[in-house]
Amino acid sequence: MTQELPLDHVVIAGGAGFIGSAFARNYLTWHPNARVTVVDKLTYAGNLENLVPIDDSPRYRFVPADICDYETMAPLIAEADAVVNFAAETHVDRSILDPDVFVRTNVLGVNTLLRAAKEAGVKRFLQVSTDEVYGHVGEGSTPENAPLKPRNPYSASKAGAELLVFSYFTNFGLPVLVTRGENTIGPYQYPEKATPLFITNALEDKPLPIYGQGRAVRHYVYVDDHAAAIDLVLHQGVPGEAYNIGADEEVTTVELATRILDLLGKPHALMQFVPDRPGHDYRYNLDFRKLERLGWRRAYDFSHTLEATVAWYMEHESWWRRIKSGAYREYYERQYGKALARAERK
Ligand code: TYD
Repeated sequence: MTQELPLDHVVIAGGAGFIGSAFARNYLTWHPNARVTVVDKLTYAGNLENLVPIDDSPRYRFVPADICDYETMAPLIAEADAVVNFAAETHVDRSILDPDVFVRTNVLGVNTLLRAAKEAGVKRFLQVSTDEVYGHVGEGSTPENAPLKPRNPYSASKAGAELLVFSYFTNFGLPVLVTRGENTIGPYQYPEKATPLFITNALEDKPLPIYGQGRAVRHYVYVDDHAAAIDLVLHQGVPGEAYNIGADEEVTTVELATRILDLLGKPHALMQFVPDRPGHDYRYNLDFRKLERLGWRRAYDFSHTLEATVAWYMEHESWWRRIKSGAYREYYERQYGKALARAERK
């Protein structure tokens, strides 16, 4: 990995979540002299089990904290060379059910981090964002300078955060960077997102809920490729700029479900069509040539990405079973209960 800009101590906010923990685990390998401070509030999707592989490293420490808590965050950031912010509420369906917490964490929390980073004079502040800030993309692919047109509370809160981040660059000269990733999959992803939900439901011989006709299009990036892209942008990106992180293959929801069922040897009849997500963005498609010009090449194409992901869930049943039997069940009932019961009766 890149060493151009020595960032020897990085605060990783939201580092117990899915992509954040992959970044933390990899950072210690990619930068053998660096240390990381992982900060996480450990809400439902943050899980210290995701960090077990680096638990024994003297270069890793964990601090439980809310990014909205300036008193706790400021002294941590004052010791750091860089801040990478993964902390966010991330699930679109939850944001439609209950937007408030999305605005609090994703917008107010980011402002708290920015304020602390500005006071500390960090060398880099990287905000992890999403392709969803562009909204539905009817045709072609979206470059970084396309307008932001978010259409649900989650993506609106992420777009709001980005604008704040860029304002700290313009007004205070804070060296900020933004990455906008496409759908990311791999080990340790909370099984509310389509891919881990479909895999774990299939393993339990339960129906796979497909929204609408299942024709929505996404691209899937392997989580370690996503982490490598963030590392590259952190060290070599131009401050004040955004970078898209994407994959080549367009995949519909039905294709995703079919591939998962085939890999697991389960019948296609497990697919169950349920009412569509309100305001569903049917297509995202990023132009990520700017990232490629920095030198990024993914290691995993879509087939490899999905195979590695399915294999991990097969091998880590206790990890996801613990989650699915806990508080997640309540959300699952609220989100899918009636629709799946109706689909089963048909
Ligand atoms: P998801 O993993 O929630 O990510 P995104 O943030 O892109 O919405 O969903 C991926 C796609 O799968 C999206 O088009 C919605 C669809 N989907 C379903 O059809 N059923 C489901 O139960 C879920 C969670 C998603």
